[in-house]
Amino acid sequence: MIQVVIGSQWGDEGKGKIVDLLAKKADYTVRFHGGNNAGHTVVVNGKKYSFHLIPSGILNRNTKGVIANGTIIDPEVLIGEIDQLEKEGIQLKNKLFISPRCHLIMPYHKELDEAYENARGKNKLGTTRRGIGPTYADKVSYNGIRVYELMNWKIFVEKFTFQANIKNKILKLFKVKPINIQKELKRYKGFKEKIVPYIKDTFLLLQNAIKNKKNILLEGAHGVMLDIDFSPYPFSTGSNVVTGAVNTGSGIPLSKVNEVWVVVKAYLSRVGGGPLPTELLDKQADYIREKGQEYGTTTGRPRRIGWLDLEGVKFACEVNGATKLVITKTDILSGVSEIKICIGYYLEGKKISYSECGYNELAQLIPRYVTFKGWKENIQNARKFGDLPKNCQKYLRFIESFLKVPIAIVSTGADRQDYISLLKA
Ligand code: GDP
Ligand code: IMO
Ligand code: MG
Repeated sequence: MIQVVIGSQWGDEGKGKIVDLLAKKADYTVRFHGGNNAGHTVVVNGKKYSFHLIPSGILNRNTKGVIANGTIIDPEVLIGEIDQLEKEGIQLKNKLFISPRCHLIMPYHKELDEAYENARGKNKLGTTRRGIGPTYADKVSYNGIRVYELMNWKIFVEKFTFQANIKNKILKLFKVKPINIQKELKRYKGFKEKIVPYIKDTFLLLQNAIKNKKNILLEGAHGVMLDIDFSPYPFSTGSNVVTGAVNTGSGIPLSKVNEVWVVVKAYLSRVGGGPLPTELLDKQADYIREKGQEYGTTTGRPRRIGWLDLEGVKFACEVNGATKLVITKTDILSGVSEIKICIGYYLEGKKISYSECGYNELAQLIPRYVTFKGWKENIQNARKFGDLPKNCQKYLRFIESFLKVPIAIVSTGADRQDYISLLKA
């Protein structure tokens, strides 16, 4: 069984929680794109774990973690995560495998990300400043350096020095302090020692897993509205987020994928700049932000809040070939007296679809809403669909019928145990 979890909105839909849940039955949990711009949270018995590079399914005792080739790695962040987990008693030797094809995020990538953002001034994109765009840019312009090079230190030194000297010239144009090459090489030598034991050909590993009928769970990062092709570019992230990235980012053929779980937050949140058609700017947004603790897992930034946008989510279901829906954070809407859902976009009086919109259209369009009566009850302890207040059930059934994809899980709280399964036993 090969399953994929994909975020349908602007990231932070609660993918980490769902990956942890589904990983209970997975032999492998796999990251296949993005870097440590991702921040995925898992809560087990009140204890919170934040993952940026290590797959969120790793907490399950029998599940191995794979960081496959499409992922980009900041070695310092990766080692920090490994150390943290080992401190918690989770041994990662022979449990975590890293592809030598992964590109490395270098100090100059982070400086460039920062420098471009500062230079954009009021037009800044709101990136996580983790060096994501510059690292992917180097990858496709043949200027990247991979984990592969870490395994051959002499070549690493040569390539790093060549790239850093060029980047220092660019940084000078931005009036940014240059990278201290010798100091960074020393740091990266330390990283190399720690990372090398985890390096493995993850293509072969996963192909063998498929042959041996193992369960593989692929963990999407970010959300479809941030996909490098399908976002309102340049308000994007540097990678493809959609299911297609499974193939390029891990080598697993798409024809082998059995289930595509699309995760939908019951309202909408977004960090970073750019148009957000259903954005709420009033007290309602503050209420949801505080109750939902909508602050970035990676950067701590307050997240922008909006009503659920089903025009966008419909696109996400179509582009990914969704087979199952997961609705998260439904509990946060308890106490909101009227809840809206966007069911279409209108521009100058004419209906327009998400795919026809660039950032200009998204900024100007008028969303059409349906309004639902809210519910007051706390639903965190609901364990059956029938336990939910009637108005909540109506809200969820509307989403399902609009998207024409069955809801398989309703998440009712942050903790691992807080969910309702609608799967037939
Ligand atoms: P991800 O990036 O998609 O993995 O999501 P994040 O972890 O960045 O953000 C989701 C936040 O909501 C985290 O703090 C989760 O612990 C939390 N969360 C996930 N599902 C639920 C839910 O159903 N209800 C509540 N209240 N919190 C949830
Ligand atoms: P998870 O996996 C929310 C957003 C950033 C910014 C844009 C570009 O936790 O859902 P980048 O640093 O990627 O170049 O920034 O993309 N972004 C995310 N927003 N959750 C994420 O990941 C994100 N990953 C990138 O906020 O708007
Ligand atoms: Mg997140």
